Amino acid sequence: MSRTKPPGGSDRAPAVERRAAPRTTDPKWRTHLTCIEPNKILVRGFPLDEMMGRLTFGEAIYLLLMGEVPSPNVGRLMEAILVSFIDHGATPPSTLAARNTATTGAPLRACVAAGVLGFGRFHGGDIESCMQFLDAGLELVRGGRSYHDAAQEIVTRWDRQGEPLPGFGHRFHTRDPRAARLFQMALEMEIEAEHIQMIRAVELVLSEHPEGPRPPVNIDGAIAAVCGDIGIPPESANALFIISRVPGIAAHAQEERQRERPMRQIDPSDHVYDGPSERRLPHKRR
Ligand SMILES: CC(C)(COP(=O)(O)OP(=O)(O)OC[C@H]1O[C@@H](n2cnc3c(N)ncnc32)[C@H](O)[C@@H]1OP(=O)(O)O)[C@@H](O)C(=O)NCCC(=O)NCCS
Repeated sequence: MSRTKPPGGSDRAPAVERRAAPRTTDPKWRTHLTCIEPNKILVRGFPLDEMMGRLTFGEAIYLLLMGEVPSPNVGRLMEAILVSFIDHGATPPSTLAARNTATTGAPLRACVAAGVLGFGRFHGGDIESCMQFLDAGLELVRGGRSYHDAAQEIVTRWDRQGEPLPGFGHRFHTRDPRAARLFQMALEMEIEAEHIQMIRAVELVLSEHPEGPRPPVNIDGAIAAVCGDIGIPPESANALFIISRVPGIAAHAQEERQRERPMRQIDPSDHVYDGPSERRLPHKRR
């Protein structure tokens, strides 16, 4: 007996039904983040009013993303990560996107949204790629290679593909002060583990490059390594960049609206900083 051919006349395999998860008979969908009941808000089980004034913003973000209150040291690292990205002056593409939107007279929310949409692979989105880069090295280490050999191998692999090394290089800095501070904190808190060891090995390999030193580790690289060592997954690590840069973007959008004339052509190389000159934090905060 001849087989009936599918429509279109080819012998293609029958179409597979694609679905993210099997259909269930349960009409409800589930969330394990926050429970809302009359007069009660529980974030991962903790009353939000009890968290207020007791958990820092960084600790609360960790709780929401990871499900548990962090240890005091991890909480401090979360705070440091959030502060590290708060602003980077008037030139980052996302800040310019927000200022360009503000100059049209658009509302603040539109300016902030424009700024957030300006994050991409080379600006803000590199934490995730750097974690994958370090994990590729760690896979080799687990297979018996030394950190140095593994670092050499992943640098060569990325170079061969013509890809910039994620988490390395900066348009302005030859030594990113934020990366140095984060590594110093991780060392002091004895949080350093395999991801930091891996990125250090890559730094060493780059410093030995025959054509002279290659790009330095940047803040995305430092955060990728620290997040890897404290168990924050890549997508959540990227979320930290978005969360932490919003204050900077909002401040630039506000300043644009308040200080500049509407509809101006914004050239970042024309800007002049006229805020306070360098000063130290109050003694008790150092
Ligand atoms: C951020 C970035 C776009 C800056 O690049 P840039 O403006 O070209 O930086 P520099 O002018 O200092 O680069 C000097 C040289 O180092 C190279 N270089 C810079 N970053 C590099 C990287 N990550 N991997 C390999 N080579 C790199 C540049 O191609 C340039 O080479 P050339 O002189 O042969 O042209 C680039 O470093 C990059 O793509 N880094 C990875 C993405 C990242 O980590 N982004 C987060 C930044 S905080």
